[in-house]
Amino acid sequence: MAKQRVLSGVQPTGNLHLGNYLGAIRNWVDGQNQYDNYFCVVDLHAITAPHNPATLASDTYTIAALYLACGIDLQHSTIFIQSHIPAHAELTWLFNCITPINWLEDMIQFKEKAIKQGQNVNTGLLDYPVLMAADILLYEPDKVPVGEDQKQHIELTRDIVDRFNHLFATPKEPVLKSPDALIRKDGARVMSLTDGTKKMSKSDPSEQSRINLLDTPDEIAKKIKRCKTDPIRGLTFDDPDRPEARNLLTLYMILSGKTKEEVSAECADMGWGQFKPLLTETTIQALQPIRQKYKEVMDEKGYLENILKEGREKAAEVANATLTKVKKAMGYSLPV
Ligand code: AMP
Ligand code: TRP
Repeated sequence: MAKQRVLSGVQPTGNLHLGNYLGAIRNWVDGQNQYDNYFCVVDLHAITAPHNPATLASDTYTIAALYLACGIDLQHSTIFIQSHIPAHAELTWLFNCITPINWLEDMIQFKEKAIKQGQNVNTGLLDYPVLMAADILLYEPDKVPVGEDQKQHIELTRDIVDRFNHLFATPKEPVLKSPDALIRKDGARVMSLTDGTKKMSKSDPSEQSRINLLDTPDEIAKKIKRCKTDPIRGLTFDDPDRPEARNLLTLYMILSGKTKEEVSAECADMGWGQFKPLLTETTIQALQPIRQKYKEVMDEKGYLENILKEGREKAAEVANATLTKVKKAMGYSLPV
């Protein structure tokens, strides 16, 4: 039997942080040999907020290199860059014309980002989930591993599938295939180091709020030393009034590979002064191999470029076949 297919992507806005790693990429790595995987760097998404043209290309390569550094294995996975495959933008246009505007206005992430960007809301920000639907549906994946915050966008993708198939196909022979979101419980929502009720995010202006995968041990130590805690002695996962305790214990649990029970018992009588050095050491140990592998990938000239070229060729073949199917169903004349 053919393996099920997986597709996912991350935006090249700045560095990857622990939230991206634990919420998304680690799941990709863990499951990868069960699936046929496609992982893209979604650089078309990156310009929905003001971006820096001088760093867009290098940021894109950094993310691709981090995929490899985090353990994506080319035996099971294809890595590519979204903008290298024009079918993503083309399918977005076709989907735009069947997607009601109010579906997009209802997206939580749009509302949040629109508030943040104030006067600066462009059409791309509203349209972003349609581009994401195109990213996904071009590859006909069974599963889309993402963090909790992307769940609504996957639901929208499924709504677009239903609407498209309803308009342009028959129930017996659907053109598009609905994917399922793959969301892990632990790590699905890593919180900010400065506020345990807010998601750790690339767009938070404070560097102190997140740990980046390429932070030096020194930077990691400083951030954990200064991170927000509470005045209570004894640490627990389960007190809803202690979001920081839950977040930091969860990070420790995942990064150390211990179970919740083990961590609960180990930390039940600890104060923060004792816990913080433990979390620091564990985090540095967990991220060290990623930093090392990243350096190796970047140091070998031409290596990454070759991988991305092969990835583009393989991905384009799948994407173009789906695009052709979609255009045919919509009644377009196809070039001979
Ligand atoms: P983004 O940084 O928005 O491009 O997100 C890339 C991936 O990381 C998506 O699958 C997100 O759901 C996931 N992600 C981003 N921030 C977090 C977080 N704080 N906790 C868990 N997952 C996250
Ligand atoms: N919107 C996703 C995020 O911010 C990134 C993304 C774009 C994506 N296209 C995708 C994720 C396709 C999974 C599949 O995290």
